[in-house]
Amino acid sequence: MRVITPLQALRLDQLRQRSSTKWRKYGDDVLPLFVAETDYPQAPAIHDALTRAVSIGDTGYTPPEPGVAAAYAGFAERRFGWTVDAARIRTTCDVMMAVVELLRRVTAPGDRVVICPPVYPPFFDVVPEAGAVVERVPLRDAGTTWELDLAGIEASLASGARAVLLCNPHNPTGTVHSRETLAALADLAERYGAAVISDEIHAPLIHRGVTFTPFLDASAAAARVGYSVVSASKAFNLAGLKCALLVTADDATSALVQGLPDEIEWRTGLFGAISAVAAFSPESDVWLDAQLAALDANRLLLAELLAEHVPGARYRVPDAGFLAWVDLTALGWGDDPAAKILSEGRVALLQGPFFGEEGHGHVRINFGCSPDVLTEAVRRVGSLVR
Ligand SMILES: Cc1ncc(COP(=O)(O)O)c(C=O)c1O
Repeated sequence: MRVITPLQALRLDQLRQRSSTKWRKYGDDVLPLFVAETDYPQAPAIHDALTRAVSIGDTGYTPPEPGVAAAYAGFAERRFGWTVDAARIRTTCDVMMAVVELLRRVTAPGDRVVICPPVYPPFFDVVPEAGAVVERVPLRDAGTTWELDLAGIEASLASGARAVLLCNPHNPTGTVHSRETLAALADLAERYGAAVISDEIHAPLIHRGVTFTPFLDASAAAARVGYSVVSASKAFNLAGLKCALLVTADDATSALVQGLPDEIEWRTGLFGAISAVAAFSPESDVWLDAQLAALDANRLLLAELLAEHVPGARYRVPDAGFLAWVDLTALGWGDDPAAKILSEGRVALLQGPFFGEEGHGHVRINFGCSPDVLTEAVRRVGSLVR
């Protein structure tokens, strides 16, 4: 078995030289564990590709076939055993823009779209941006995990909801939906003539022992009803570079994506495309595995730290990603514990209520940082517990 050395996060003094929102929104006295940026050094293949691009002034428009589709097809095959037809992939600037454009085409103004809170806050915004209406079908708490409320989703679809905006893996809970669940969702969508848009941005970050099923690969029905949106931007910390992929697996869905205006594809950032090719190349697998080893250690460390410093916090170790969903209701810090934690503890966490009313009393912690920073952040939260 190959021994994987966990990737080391950069030091705070190095990170504070960055100008991204994570490092500029708050002062230096605040530990920022809120927005979904990670603190690791750039993957060498991405670093080299971008450095070369800068050095030759390669800053023009993205070409029609920058190689992203083929690179992703290779990545999907290696990492998920999923065969993707590169000809059925198009790119655009980011995942949420792709979702808006898809929603515009699979719904009519005023149609209802199912989302499953607690969920990534912009889901509440992109649905109305596309002219549709949010239909909330919360995740079900199944005791040790969360799951889709398939009966609730069926009721929504049966009464006319036209689409489901799925998050797989789910942000903020880190839930990886099973093949059976996804296939059942696809059957429901097909029965009621609805589309499923699956946001799979966190999919490259599946933790050991967990199997990820791409929605389009869950069943033949899923391939017919589904659109998947993916990106290298979370796993490789490339959010500022703007490149996401719309993936389909069926003639009709593919025709819809091919029919999107070319302008949507022109919005792909060239640096985003160059870095996505490098990220999805086999060369970056070692880096990704090293990052996953670091995240794996941190998701377990967080459980220990919370037990030690914040008794009463409820946390389930996520199956994917670098985000932790923590229930602090027992501490009596109100609907939005992140407000107190920021003002009194100088740690910035993402506010639970942003994820829907299910998030009252919760915070989302980004553990894509060094163990030292994570330890200090939880220690600060703990110092507020009386
Ligand atoms: C589930 C999910 N979708 C989309 C995004 C944003 O992706 P993009 O910046 O490509 O729009 C994020 C960012 O954290 C996310 O967690």
